[in-house]
Amino acid sequence: MGDRAPQIACTRLPLPLFHARNRLFYESKKNMESDIWTNSLEVQRNEKARNPTHNPTLIMDLISSKIAPTFRLSTSFPNTRNIVSATDLSRQMWPFKSNGKSGFSSSSSAEEVTSGIDGSGLTAIVTGASSGIGAETARVLALRGVHVVMAVRNVSNGNKVKEAIVNEIPSAKVEAMELDLSSNESVREFVSEFTSSGRPLNILINNGGVMGIPFELSKDNVELQFATNYLGHFLLTTLLLDTIKRTASETKREGRIVSVSSVVHWVTYGEGIRFERLNDEEGYNRWLSYGQSKLATHLHTIELARRLKEDGTEVTVNSLHPGVVGTNIYRYFGIWGGNLGQSGGILKYLIGLVFKRVPQGASTSCYLALRPEVKGTSGAYFANNHISTPAAQALDTNMAKKLWDFSMDLVK
Ligand SMILES: NC(=O)c1ccc[n+]([C@@H]2O[C@H](COP(=O)([O-])OP(=O)(O)OC[C@H]3O[C@@H](n4cnc5c(N)ncnc54)[C@H](OP(=O)(O)O)[C@@H]3O)[C@@H](O)[C@H]2O)c1
Repeated sequence: MGDRAPQIACTRLPLPLFHARNRLFYESKKNMESDIWTNSLEVQRNEKARNPTHNPTLIMDLISSKIAPTFRLSTSFPNTRNIVSATDLSRQMWPFKSNGKSGFSSSSSAEEVTSGIDGSGLTAIVTGASSGIGAETARVLALRGVHVVMAVRNVSNGNKVKEAIVNEIPSAKVEAMELDLSSNESVREFVSEFTSSGRPLNILINNGGVMGIPFELSKDNVELQFATNYLGHFLLTTLLLDTIKRTASETKREGRIVSVSSVVHWVTYGEGIRFERLNDEEGYNRWLSYGQSKLATHLHTIELARRLKEDGTEVTVNSLHPGVVGTNIYRYFGIWGGNLGQSGGILKYLIGLVFKRVPQGASTSCYLALRPEVKGTSGAYFANNHISTPAAQALDTNMAKKLWDFSMDLVK
């Protein structure tokens, strides 16, 4: 598919590139403020003591600062002091293969983590499937026999991806349907069209998103990153929940909701979610607002998991960090990111070289959607195909409940 980064051998880089990558890695580590680094080790030690199965995840924004200077700014925000859980850098750098407990690592591709799994008979919705991680997630689920509904805001782009999938996998069952996550009306229309045909729904992948956009309000007067990345998915999930529950009970197969958050949920406003000032242009910071929307995504995950458990239904919900992946999400990074064009510019390729490429970026979504070992796990945060530890704010059950009520009001 056209959106993939250049196919450089996954396990062997040309030597100069390999050295460049190593240099980037070590310099970044050297340049980290030592208190952040020490704090990170402390956080990891405590977490490991609390939970022996804890699998540390690298917080990439410190390293990304080398190639994306805007991230550098974020290291001066207070929450960044808490974010570092960087004892296992090799996991995130895909040439340093080290498979963890799950048998997979950051270098595992979506195809690898789903190898041998038969998804036929399952139906999935993947939002934001017209590009990047979502397009690859749709392709790999279709490869495994899942009937995939690609929920896309640009149907023409969605159809191009669909054609590419069908060309590669003639038996694929894929369709593109219009969905603008930033509009409550569009979400309602999408759900009404989807459910009117009486289709089942086994897997919902809340993937679509934007990052670091200038201040803007959605059609429904909600700050646009919060509206797109979180609130649209909140409404979509809420409206589809009965269908997912019914399908799970009729088919006796666990329903799965998978929400793509980000490690950047650690880097949000001091209060976590700006309940009182969500739409204030004053004080708006496009990176903190992205972090806020991703914090909201995980808070939604834990509150929904709690409710599903209370219901006793066979539906789970988990969130994930896909890694730092070379995609079009970087389109707001000025000239390096393609200057607001449809592509992530040169940055997308650099990131693909240094960190993850799209096949690796889609692996945790596909892992959570299809792997049998995940059965029964709900309310958890994953990265690199392993359970990981989110920020303390993302485990705040009071904030999660407050956000639920707040969101219900916003989508009324
Ligand atoms: N790439 C990374 O390093 C990274 C790291 C952490 C988390 N993530 C998360 O991963 C997810 C996928 O991002 P990606 O990296 O694959 O970026 P991407 O290539 O830019 O894909 C984002 C997708 O979301 C869609 N989208 C944007 N606004 C939408 C809206 N209002 N309604 C419906 N769809 C919308 C985009 O559609 P268009 O093509 O029409 O714009 C696109 O299909 C996002 O949630 C992102 O925050 C990515």
